[in-house]
Amino acid sequence: MQKLRGFVSDEEILTLDEKYCSHGDTVHYSQNPKVFRGCSGNFMFDTEDIPYLDLQMWYASCNLGYKNKRVSDAVVEQINTLPQIASRFLYDYKVLLSQKIAVACEKRFEKKGRVHFNVGGAQAVEDALKLVRNFTGKNLLFAFMGGYHGRTIGVSGVTSSFRYREHYGHFGDRAHFVPYPYCFRCHYGKQCESCNFYCVKQFEKNFENEYHSFYDRATKKSEYVAFIAEPVQGTGGYIVPPKGYFRELKRVLDKFGILLVVDEIQMGFYRTGKLWSIEHFGVTPDIITFGKSLTNGMNPLGGLWAKEEMINPQIWPSGRTHSTYSSNPIGTRAGYEVMSIFEEKEEFFEREIKRKGEKFLDGLKQLKLKYKKIGNVDGLGLALRIECCEDDGFTPNKKLCDEILEEGLRGHLTYKNQRCGIVLNNGGYYKNVITLVPSVVISDEEIDMALILLDQLFARFS
Ligand SMILES: Cc1ncc(COP(=O)(O)O)c(C=O)c1O
Repeated sequence: MQKLRGFVSDEEILTLDEKYCSHGDTVHYSQNPKVFRGCSGNFMFDTEDIPYLDLQMWYASCNLGYKNKRVSDAVVEQINTLPQIASRFLYDYKVLLSQKIAVACEKRFEKKGRVHFNVGGAQAVEDALKLVRNFTGKNLLFAFMGGYHGRTIGVSGVTSSFRYREHYGHFGDRAHFVPYPYCFRCHYGKQCESCNFYCVKQFEKNFENEYHSFYDRATKKSEYVAFIAEPVQGTGGYIVPPKGYFRELKRVLDKFGILLVVDEIQMGFYRTGKLWSIEHFGVTPDIITFGKSLTNGMNPLGGLWAKEEMINPQIWPSGRTHSTYSSNPIGTRAGYEVMSIFEEKEEFFEREIKRKGEKFLDGLKQLKLKYKKIGNVDGLGLALRIECCEDDGFTPNKKLCDEILEEGLRGHLTYKNQRCGIVLNNGGYYKNVITLVPSVVISDEEIDMALILLDQLFARFS
């Protein structure tokens, strides 16, 4: 690689950021914001051209790796043919991508449906909320504690963290938040092996009589009309639910006429080894939202699939919602290529992501045996977690997690006698979880490298 120093030095970038950029985004979560100059495959490169193995992939937006050639070429081709078109007109890739997604959903869930695009994840969830309201005439939803669906004003009401609402007044449509099956820290203090889905039973109790405030048994009407769920919690800390949980939950939802909206924005596009993570759990959703890796990070595009009853043109006619950049041609062209890449080798991706995920998780289990401060490791496909704890292996240790993230970004680790770094992200209810989100095309050698670098990091702080 050539030296990547740009025409503005790192120091100047930091000075200009300090003076001209709002600190309201997430850059200043870090005391020392990092400047990068290049990316390729599974690596980011700093100004000195030091490689950083990336295990967060733009928060799961680049599942096929940085600068994936097929996706980049498709985008260039689109730039040279039809880069701009108002969203009230038709062009090929909008309908071709809708077809791909609708057919993929029909194949998986045996349900006909349609696709609606918008510019990002939160906007896709906004549209899902509108669709629910339009279909039911009601606006209250259940959502999970630990769930993250974005930060627009509407969506902040179904995203659990109070921190995201705290400064913005009253949220009349705030969801009713239900404990997620986070079995390592069970909300009810139960043991996963013996609880018999106690949390679902608690949820079901809400509907026992009208005085529990949700449901009138006489009219068979629920005040809450949908449940929005991440099948595997992302920002909540890459938490995998126990087998059978979603079937139990869906049994209750069906009994009381409550729709299931599944948010696949972070776990979709083969993150867990399936197109949609909900496929692991044997239930059929009413709406699916998606975004992030749909375009492999090339242009913002999000959207939803909904079953035909909810989205057919009679019930969801022209103009029910709109955004200037929705279904933008560069995004849909990139999305079409991403879907094609996965579709052409569906079995290969399913098999390989499962295998690589298991290999990675085996390595993490070895690290857990070595370091008392690792309280829990788990994963599904290539969505993996390391929970940083105190020496008791349970008390959350955010400080350790922060130190490890910062140290990885200093670029002072070693692999095969070469200097390198590692890009990690954290999540979880206590922000003490390293959420591991490698590209789904990470090689076996890169997984070995990741485990060696993680070992070096834990060794430095033990
Ligand atoms: C599950 C989930 N839903 C929605 C969003 C919001 O997406 P965006 O940041 O593109 O608005 C995110 C972002 O991290 C997410 O993880």
